[in-house]
Amino acid sequence: LSSYPSYIDLLPSIQTCNITNLPENYFLKYYLYHALTWPQLSFVAVVRPKNGYKSGSGPGMAGDISGQYPKVVGYVLAKMEEEPSDGVQHGHITSLSVMRTHRRLGIAERLMRMSQRAMAESHRAHYVSLHVRMSNTAALRLYRDTLGFEVEKVESRYYADGEDAYAMKLDLQKQW
Ligand code: ACO
Repeated sequence: LSSYPSYIDLLPSIQTCNITNLPENYFLKYYLYHALTWPQLSFVAVVRPKNGYKSGSGPGMAGDISGQYPKVVGYVLAKMEEEPSDGVQHGHITSLSVMRTHRRLGIAERLMRMSQRAMAESHRAHYVSLHVRMSNTAALRLYRDTLGFEVEKVESRYYADGEDAYAMKLDLQKQW
């Protein structure tokens, strides 16, 4: 057993980061499904505790001492589309967020590039898709201007509150 926490150890903290930053939330088992099915594709950004990790400590476990477990400040949750409607093997970004305290440091860009690369290398993904709220200017700037995604179509009333989504995609074949 390693004293360094695994991605699965961090799932509750990833879920907390998601709940803090986005209205689209998921059951823990959905994060687990991603982690077990496509372990190469999801990444976290953590702040390490100052004095290192204490063996046996972890959320919900005896010995979980505040400050000794890494704090998740960003994550990308990603998957391969299991039954692509166009028949083309591709990845999908289920969720991405970064805590307010750690924004504009390049964390989201780095998480996205790592996931995109893994999709192409581990799963031969031809492209990556995602949905984003039309009002989400920060994420749109990231996807379109920084990463090179293009709007494929508008999906009307995609979100539970009735907001429309841009369905976006990025060709991965030209990237590496
Ligand atoms: N305003 C304008 N452009 C922005 C902003 C902003 N607030 N934030 C990021 N960008 C653009 C810029 O071009 C930036 O480059 P620059 O800083 O050199 O100008 C570029 O994106 C890269 O920014 P990062 O520092 O990598 O982005 P950050 O780590 O701050 O995370 C994110 C961006 C994920 C959108 C963050 O603001 C966030 O968590 N927002 C709330 C949750 C969210 O909207 N998630 C995306 C939902 S869509 C989905 O999950 C598929």
